[in-house]
Amino acid sequence: MNPELRIKELVKILNEANYNYYVLDNPTITDQEYDKYLRELTDLERKYPEYTLIDSPTKRVGGEVLDKFSKVSHKIPMLSLGNVFNEDEVRDFDSKIKKAGFDPEYVCEFKIDGLSVSLQYEQGILVRGATRGDGVIGEDITHNVKTIKAIPLKLKKNIDIEVRGEIYMDKKTLTKINKEREMEGLPLLQNVRNAAAGSVRQLDSKVAAKRNLNNFIYHLPNPLDYGIDQHIKALEFMQELGFKINPNNRLVQNIDEVIAYINEATAKRESLPYEIDGVVIKVNNINEQNELGFTAKYPKWATAYKFPANDVYTKLKDIIFTVGRTGQITPNAVLEPVLVMGSTVARATLHNEDFVNNLGLMIGDIVEVHKAGDVIPEVKGAIKERRIGTEKPFVMISECPICHTKLIKKEGQVDYYCPNDKCPARGIEGLIHFASRDAMNIDGLGDEIIEDFYNEGFITSIPDFYHLKEHEEEILNIEGFGRKSFENIINAVENSKHNSLEKLLFGLGIPGVGSKTAKLLAEYYGNIDNLMNASIEELLDIKDIGDILALNIFTYFKNNRNLIDTLKMLDINMKYLGTSKKISDSITNKKFVMTGTISFMTRDEIKALIEEYNGSFSDSVSKKTDVVIVGENPGSKYEKAKELNITIWNEEMFKKVIDKLNNN
Ligand code: IVH
Repeated sequence: MNPELRIKELVKILNEANYNYYVLDNPTITDQEYDKYLRELTDLERKYPEYTLIDSPTKRVGGEVLDKFSKVSHKIPMLSLGNVFNEDEVRDFDSKIKKAGFDPEYVCEFKIDGLSVSLQYEQGILVRGATRGDGVIGEDITHNVKTIKAIPLKLKKNIDIEVRGEIYMDKKTLTKINKEREMEGLPLLQNVRNAAAGSVRQLDSKVAAKRNLNNFIYHLPNPLDYGIDQHIKALEFMQELGFKINPNNRLVQNIDEVIAYINEATAKRESLPYEIDGVVIKVNNINEQNELGFTAKYPKWATAYKFPANDVYTKLKDIIFTVGRTGQITPNAVLEPVLVMGSTVARATLHNEDFVNNLGLMIGDIVEVHKAGDVIPEVKGAIKERRIGTEKPFVMISECPICHTKLIKKEGQVDYYCPNDKCPARGIEGLIHFASRDAMNIDGLGDEIIEDFYNEGFITSIPDFYHLKEHEEEILNIEGFGRKSFENIINAVENSKHNSLEKLLFGLGIPGVGSKTAKLLAEYYGNIDNLMNASIEELLDIKDIGDILALNIFTYFKNNRNLIDTLKMLDINMKYLGTSKKISDSITNKKFVMTGTISFMTRDEIKALIEEYNGSFSDSVSKKTDVVIVGENPGSKYEKAKELNITIWNEEMFKKVIDKLNNN
């Protein structure tokens, strides 16, 4: 088969499928088919890179990493909109326009809660995506925009055009990402808007690619240039070019119809897959728009009706304390149950003592509650005017609520900790963590079962997971516990013995060691013995490991050798099963620069070798450079290295280092 033709054909099939799925919301092929075609295309492009097309869907997977964002100046400023908050103000907006001598038709649109983006196409090809910034200067986010499947890489016509719209994240996507982040111990994304904005403001486009962002286009600057004299027609025009246009946009005849649209949008809001925070009202006729013009900040021909804020009020009945896996004590608000944006809220974290004191909360207060990001309930403050005198002050506890050990507070930190390693609350949380998905992934052992097994005495420490079988009879006697679920658990426990080292390291719950650090350590040391024998200084040599973490890791292994030995005897794998980075005293963790040519290796080979041994390779010499490799015909970097007194390896010395690596 002719590879060039097949590549063209595959790009066409995949782009059409993409368009049907992401823009029209009307899938035409299955995920499996899509993946099959995409794999075929990826392979062909790898073999025949010269035939790769500019709008190939493989360009959407991310990979481009920037050092910094470059600035983009908007030829036509990206304005924001004035706000109105109730029916009267909507009618005032209309009256002002009538006073200026117009009786316009309006276009009503959902106000999508995300961040605005400008997209520039040349000859139909996406060449730039930019944020609004201050309206005049924005940031170039093309690398991330390309990962958004609702945004066409190539239009259906080869024209030069700029369009504007909103990048947003679906509600479900946010929930999914937050579930994953919770497992990882990462802070949750606060709301869809922050999540979308945070995602496009990443230098590494792989992050945005994973965030499943979406887009609606709603604005064409200068439509008259395209012979278009109505906004509704501009929307149609942009739809024909391949953009995703919101199907709820509507042309209406007068302000009463605008009000009716607002009421419909209010009713529909909750059931939409994305967040909207209001309705945008725009004069339809472009000549009328131009005559109405702008104030200093906003167009006079459009406004945004904002939905009322979602805050609700309820009583703070009590403040109770929970103990986390690390012993961290968290105050929690116990609320009179209240409906906030469709779900009942009865609890909310109050984070720590300072948070409660800063808000000046008293038990019995009427408090304002909202859902941060419409996901996580948050207490915003007390309505002090509504106090009746029976409220009680908040007092931070000084003893662990579970084991009554005196709490400690580390210098400079706001959180209190229960220092008792044997505290049952800490124990249960630690066991839940050990079994969790990103740790040992023991399926079937949910939080509640672990808590029950703990209270029954079946699992009170990590090795007990691997003795569960011995409690078969007792467990099968528990009401509602079938043989099948017991067997599933035993199998999952058995399977967890074969996990790669990083899952165990994460599961152990070493303070400060999240899944990322666990991976780093596993990769670096290859097995647990190397890690256990590492000194603090050696740990500090690893990039991304600082003083506190190094001390935590070192102390943990000093105090827990018995546990590790026990786990070893239970046949739990203690090796890293991925490909390890190699270590060399001369290269690992050092920063290299190269100048001139080395006869026996190319620059790329040298770079790859250094990276294989976990050294870093950069282009310019600075005080931080450890070694400059100097080959034949060196450039100015050589002079600079001498000036800064940096170690220099000539070809001969470099050869010796390589020979030593090969002999090891
Ligand atoms: S029109 C000159 N239409 O709301 C007109 N904006 O508060 C420019 N937004 O910065 C904007 N949905 O980020 C327009 N259907 C919509 C919108 C919308 C959301 C955002 C946009 C704008 C902000 C203004």
